[in-house]
Amino acid sequence: MADLDFVHEYIPAPSDTAGRTLVLLHGTGGNERDLLPLGRFLDPSAALLGVRGKVLEGGMPRFFRRLAEGVFDEEDLLFRTDELVDFLRAASATYGFATDTLIAVGYSNGANIAASILLRHTDVFAGALLFRPMVPFEPEQAAAKRATPVLLSAGEADPIVPAQSTKRLGELLEARGANVDIQWHRGGHGLMEPELQLAKLWLDQKISR
Ligand code: MLT
Repeated sequence: MADLDFVHEYIPAPSDTAGRTLVLLHGTGGNERDLLPLGRFLDPSAALLGVRGKVLEGGMPRFFRRLAEGVFDEEDLLFRTDELVDFLRAASATYGFATDTLIAVGYSNGANIAASILLRHTDVFAGALLFRPMVPFEPEQAAAKRATPVLLSAGEADPIVPAQSTKRLGELLEARGANVDIQWHRGGHGLMEPELQLAKLWLDQKISR
C-alpha cells in the first residue's frame, strides 16, 4: 500500500464480472466520497475509486494549486497530474483492476485534473465524463493519439467556466484523437438532475463495458 498516497475509497464492482472502474474526482472543497453516489448512478455495475485532492486552499481539498479563480499554478498542476497518474497505476496493481478500464468522472476542479491527465497521458483513461471543465493548460508538446470518448457537460450560464474554455478544451482533446461530445445545459456551475440522466445514457452508448 506504500504507493497509495492519496486519501481514497475503493468500492469493488458488486459482481465478479470484469467491468469498468470509475475514477471519481471531486470539486474544490470536496472529498473522496462526494461522487460515490453519482458513480453508482452512472454505472451500477462498476467498481468505484473516489480520490481526495492533496492540495488545501483555505482548508478545502483541491487537486492542484490555483493563483486565482480560473488562474492555475501550471507547475503544480503538471506535478499533481503526474502524481495522480502514478497513484492510479499503483491502485490498479493493488486492487486488481486493469488500467485500460478506467473512466474518469470529474466535477469542476476534479474535471480539470482529469482533463489535464487526458492531455498529458493519453493512455490512462478509456473514457471520461467531465462536468464543468475548462482548459487546465495549453499543451506545447504533441501526445500520442487515442480515440478516447469524452463527454464535456457544460452550463450555458456558468460564471466560473467561460463557454470558450469548454470549446477550446474540446479542440485540444480532439487534437489528441479523442471523440468529444459537448452537452450544453441551461444552468450554471452546479450539477442538475437532467444532465446526469443524459450523462448516464452517454456512458452506456459510448463506452463498452
Ligand atoms: C478550478 O480551480 O479548477 C476551477 O476554477 C473550478 C473550481 O474548482 O472552482
